[in-house]
Amino acid sequence: MLVNWIKIGLTTGCLLAASACSDSADNNEAPAAVGFAEVDTKRILETSPGAEWLSHSGGYDEQRHSPLAQITRENVSNLGVAWTYDLATNRGVEATPIVVDGVMYVTSAWSLVYALDARTGAELWVYDPAVDKRVAVNACCDVVNRGVGVYDGKIFVGVIDGRLEALDAKTGAVIWSTVTVDQSKPYTITGAPRVVDGLVLIGNGGAELGVRGYISAYSAETGKLVWRFYTVPNPNKAPDGAASDTAFTSVGNISWGDEGAWVTDGGGGTVWDSIVYDHVGDQIIFGVGNGSPWNRTIRDPAGGDNLFLSSIVAVDIKTGTYKWHFQTTPGDNWDYTATQSIILANLPLGENGAPRRVVMQAPKNGFFYVLDAETGDFISAKPFGPQNWAQGLDKNGRPVENPAARYGKASFTQLPGAMGAHNWHPMAYNPALGLAYIPAQEIPQAYALDPLWKSNPSKWNTGTDASVDLMVDLPPGMIKFLRSTLKGRLLAWDPVKQEARWSVEHENAWNGGVLSTAGGLVFQGKINGEFAAYNAENGSKLWSEDLKSGGASGPATFEIDGEQYVTITTGWGSGYALFAGFAYDEKVVPTIGKVVTFKLGGTARIADPELAYIERTVKTERFGTAEQLQLGLVQYARNCSVCHGPVAISSGVLPDLRWSAYGGDGDAWQAVVGEGVLADAGMVSFSAFLSAEEIEAIRAYVVAQAHNSLAEEAPKN
Ligand code: HEC
Repeated sequence: MLVNWIKIGLTTGCLLAASACSDSADNNEAPAAVGFAEVDTKRILETSPGAEWLSHSGGYDEQRHSPLAQITRENVSNLGVAWTYDLATNRGVEATPIVVDGVMYVTSAWSLVYALDARTGAELWVYDPAVDKRVAVNACCDVVNRGVGVYDGKIFVGVIDGRLEALDAKTGAVIWSTVTVDQSKPYTITGAPRVVDGLVLIGNGGAELGVRGYISAYSAETGKLVWRFYTVPNPNKAPDGAASDTAFTSVGNISWGDEGAWVTDGGGGTVWDSIVYDHVGDQIIFGVGNGSPWNRTIRDPAGGDNLFLSSIVAVDIKTGTYKWHFQTTPGDNWDYTATQSIILANLPLGENGAPRRVVMQAPKNGFFYVLDAETGDFISAKPFGPQNWAQGLDKNGRPVENPAARYGKASFTQLPGAMGAHNWHPMAYNPALGLAYIPAQEIPQAYALDPLWKSNPSKWNTGTDASVDLMVDLPPGMIKFLRSTLKGRLLAWDPVKQEARWSVEHENAWNGGVLSTAGGLVFQGKINGEFAAYNAENGSKLWSEDLKSGGASGPATFEIDGEQYVTITTGWGSGYALFAGFAYDEKVVPTIGKVVTFKLGGTARIADPELAYIERTVKTERFGTAEQLQLGLVQYARNCSVCHGPVAISSGVLPDLRWSAYGGDGDAWQAVVGEGVLADAGMVSFSAFLSAEEIEAIRAYVVAQAHNSLAEEAPKN
């Protein structure tokens, strides 16, 4: 469906589509385009990143380092807003824009695609894949999308419901649409497709619920499947007739037992983000996600390494045939995905300091890895932040685990937690300075076995107990204490010496992706809305601007008519904002997403968001016995916290249930939670998992949390 999008005007009050909606300092003439996205592999290899940003991370090596140098340390203080554009959604925004032939292609939540004049932000077209909102329940970490791929006049988007679609770059019309998953299973797509030599590469997500991961290559021309590589064996350990078969008969199958939840629930290993083309080895190198369920004792009681979970894998580009792998976290037990940014570069690590082509990754588990790109051989790794799950690594890079990290019923509080020491926020690498820039973080987590786990691959189901160490009435000051344990930093890392060169401390975790430029700058947004440029050599802050919304995405840069632009997408949502509501005070405001583009001397403004304050009042008296409240706590933690926030504190993306009017009315509450009357808006029925008594117990718990919160905030005398 191609929509002439009517903006709801949440922040701008702008009611019509097209150029009137963009706050632009320039005129809105059509771009001086020669064609529309007439891109092939040669053009990407030879020219990007340069004046254009033709693939997800700029170029195939995914360094997010641009040779553009008009914006420098000396003049960056003159950087101002060139234009802003309002995206049509108010959920998380994680997209890096593509800029080609004067046009910017960008995505928002719910997999909408936008084509904009890259100089002015004027809208050329918007495509809405018209997703059934009920699929939101399958999305572990918000209904986000990280961007498009472009090739041969087409724009490729992975849709949250599992479709891969090719759009006409000029008009946004659908050229082909292919369903890449079994839609009866909880698969989602949030990652950006990569396009190489006529093949569109795409993975999927869903390992928090129960799926079997894979990456596929489709023909860019026709949308037909060319090859598929599964990351977890077939449940019978039999061949799939897929490219991955040889990998399992050679190394994969023996790393799994014959029983356990993986057999019924798929085992996980989703390829939900990094997919990198190595043109030197003519191979695709991709990052594989966590196990499903997280807890290995449930997933595979035999206790094997469970290949290819949490691994970096290389396959032949044409056939998908296995070449090598390196497993960062054998026998994953903690949601330690290795899907984080993979960067290719030459480092002086060959004989006598000769250049050696390497793979770099800072996965969730907290170690920075350098591998040989041709063979996958382990070169080196060091922790890039505090961690307590491993005592170190052996000479092959295999972790020597802290035995306590293999938790049982008793909890173990671990760093990193499931949010990772680094998550999807793209890192960058400056080849001239030899520094990688990591959006690093500390988010501790208590892990314990979930005693109530049962196979149920249609909802959040990790085998870990989200209610462990929680009580209905938390001790006073607990939320403040928890908040104080969350840290974020921008880290400049020397991958040869495996040590930090400098770091900038942020006030919260989950900060933005990084852009490095030949102007000697590093750009990074923050979740609190600050977008800053730092001196790439020493981290001193040279410029910043308030984005007035979350700045978590990876920025990009491009040049048109002799002017360099820096651009970032903004918005409020994504996994952490849904899940870690307690991490925020009232300063970060929910808004619809935007594209915000800067240039030297830009004079446009970022519109102030229209704040919709929620009335923080309890809707009924406390009720429920101690047993009922405890049941409510456990079932809330298991079923609701992933979207409405632990201990019922939401960050404002989705309703804060403490203050919800439904909380005051048991029947209305049952209608929403049991019958699913709000299913069209993404709040599906839980009646298949919860009895009416359990649903009522959750209400009692939520109401208690409302009373507790107000008591905690009340002035003490
Ligand atoms: C996958 C994400 C997700 C999960 C899990 C989830 N919800 Fe929701 N919930 C939503 C969304 C989205 C809405 C907003 C719907 C709308 O916009 O009207 C919502 C709205 C609600 C509302 C209405 C609030 C209001 O004031 O409008 C209630 C009540 C609610 N949820 C209760 C629950 C309970 C109880 C659980 C656990 C049993 C739960 N939800 C689990 C996504 C979720």
